Amino acid sequence: MKVVGTIQEMQSACRALRLAGQSLGLVPTMGALHDGHLSLVRASKATCGVTAVSIFVNPTQFAPNEDLAKYPRTFETDCLALQAGEVDLVFAPTVAEMYPPGAVTWVEVAEVSDRLDGASRPGHFRGVATVVAKLFHIVSPTHAFFGQKDAAQLAVLRKMVRDLNFDLEIVGCPVVREADGLAMSSRNRFLQAEERQHALVISQALREAGRIVASGVTSADQLVEKMAAVMREQPKVRVDYIAVADPNTLEAISDVRQGGLLAIAAFAGSTRLIDNILIAGR
Ligand code: PAJ
Repeated sequence: MKVVGTIQEMQSACRALRLAGQSLGLVPTMGALHDGHLSLVRASKATCGVTAVSIFVNPTQFAPNEDLAKYPRTFETDCLALQAGEVDLVFAPTVAEMYPPGAVTWVEVAEVSDRLDGASRPGHFRGVATVVAKLFHIVSPTHAFFGQKDAAQLAVLRKMVRDLNFDLEIVGCPVVREADGLAMSSRNRFLQAEERQHALVISQALREAGRIVASGVTSADQLVEKMAAVMREQPKVRVDYIAVADPNTLEAISDVRQGGLLAIAAFAGSTRLIDNILIAGR
């Protein structure tokens, strides 16, 4: 496994691989890796000849009041996990390397970036789209792997790839959960034992909603009410949003007969958690 810190070295390593005819999978991450991240690595290895993982805590996607400074950084352990996962290339640039002084160009994916997490975190998806566009230019992957866990991010990035004609395939991968249902997240390590217990209500609410869909309920109002009712059972967890939306545009939909995204964001203590399930069309 080769660990690369500069854009120039990464670009030439990736160019050489492409010239050798390799399919190249990119898994962008901010590190503090867990099995959710590693599931993306496994998906890439199953599809692509070469797998690259980027580790970069991207400052431009954090608002000033957010947790950039305390975002977990576990680079050594991350590298051990990636080595065990037989990753070929790790790209771990510094902030100065990615954003040299004077950088003023941004990628804004209008509309979709203002919905769900974008509504709660103004500017967040501008930072995400910009850094991912840069990573795509640096690596030129044939495939890029993202988790369904961040459903709004996936929608924004799919739209960016379409609108800007990036010549690659975005692959969405299922949410990986702890045994008790909590969606894995780098931020879970911030949860106190009690908060972690309380946070289970999020996946429970989604599961309950999934259950009533299976029994024939398709009205978004009824699904939102079901999720809200379950969330109310744990008042220590503060809801940010509960949504029933089109998974591509993130616009609210009124029923899920054609499929839909059920998504919740909520705070356990000061930690913001997100989770969702996809409903298949019938
Ligand atoms: P990060 O939060 O580190 O997540 C990296 C990738 O892992 C994302 O595609 C995310 O959806 C996926 N992921 C996280 N938890 C998951 C889980 N429980 N199951 C499945 N996949 C999971 O998302 C980011 O970083 C950044 O915004 C990034 C795209 C790297 C841009 O900075």
